[in-house]
Amino acid sequence: MTDPAFRLRDVQFSYRGHPALTGLDLDLPRGRRTAVLGANGSGKSTLLRLLDALQFAQTGRVEALGQPLTEAALRDDAAAIAFRRRVGFVFQNPDVQLFCPTVFDELAFGPLQMHWPRDRIRARVAALLADFGLTGLADRPPHRLSGGEKKRVALASVLILDPEVLLLDEPTAALDPQASDDIVAALQRDFGAANPARTLIFSTHDLDVVARIADHVVVLEDGRAVAAGAPAELLADTALLQRCRLLPARSG
Ligand SMILES: Nc1ncnc2c1ncn2[C@@H]1O[C@H](COP(=O)(O)OP(=O)(O)O)[C@@H](O)[C@H]1O
Ligand SMILES: [Mg+2]
Repeated sequence: MTDPAFRLRDVQFSYRGHPALTGLDLDLPRGRRTAVLGANGSGKSTLLRLLDALQFAQTGRVEALGQPLTEAALRDDAAAIAFRRRVGFVFQNPDVQLFCPTVFDELAFGPLQMHWPRDRIRARVAALLADFGLTGLADRPPHRLSGGEKKRVALASVLILDPEVLLLDEPTAALDPQASDDIVAALQRDFGAANPARTLIFSTHDLDVVARIADHVVVLEDGRAVAAGAPAELLADTALLQRCRLLPARSG
């Protein structure tokens, strides 16, 4: 494997004595679409927040794009800015991400921070709005949109900066089937063969979404990685999926 996007070794993280990651060893490959699969409470969100440097490992080691990812390393402003440019994060709940008065402003916010020229901002926002089926909503306040529309705005507002790595926490949770399908289609369009330099890492407990998007799967159980490999192989491992509460246990 070429250098992974992220390498974690014996990572532990607890919330005030409550363990969430309990000795996590993991390589997350570059240029791939990795599903982090696990039941509620298995540590998916905690892992993604560590990968986005929103919180830091209490013991063990995390490397991102070949560099140690530590609080000390990111205290350097230039390093923090470089990291934020390369790695984008979409929260599970879009309400914590959307804060601008209109959908247009939401997409333009990142590019404005980066001092893009106005013409380029207008053109890219228009293109992203079209790609995400949001053109008619450009002037609407994001907090009044449906769950699926909010999710697409949040995703577009991160993708507009063209991050090398995109982290998504449960991109289809709480969406109806059509809204979920829209997100899956957008990810299929924007990652993979068309954009081999982009890395996608997303958490889910939806096996159907894994099959449709991922080309690599990691399974978490109680804060540890208990399996990693090809989707076809792991999705066929009924015993593993039942043990990890990703499939209901059936009698007989
Ligand atoms: N803010 C928090 N305070 C205390 N415990 C937390 C907090 N966030 C998560 N946990 C606990 O950490 C463990 C892992 O949670 P999380 O990373 O959210 O898992 P997942 O995203 O897979 O549901 C769970 O036992 C959860 O209850
Ligand atoms: Mg979670």
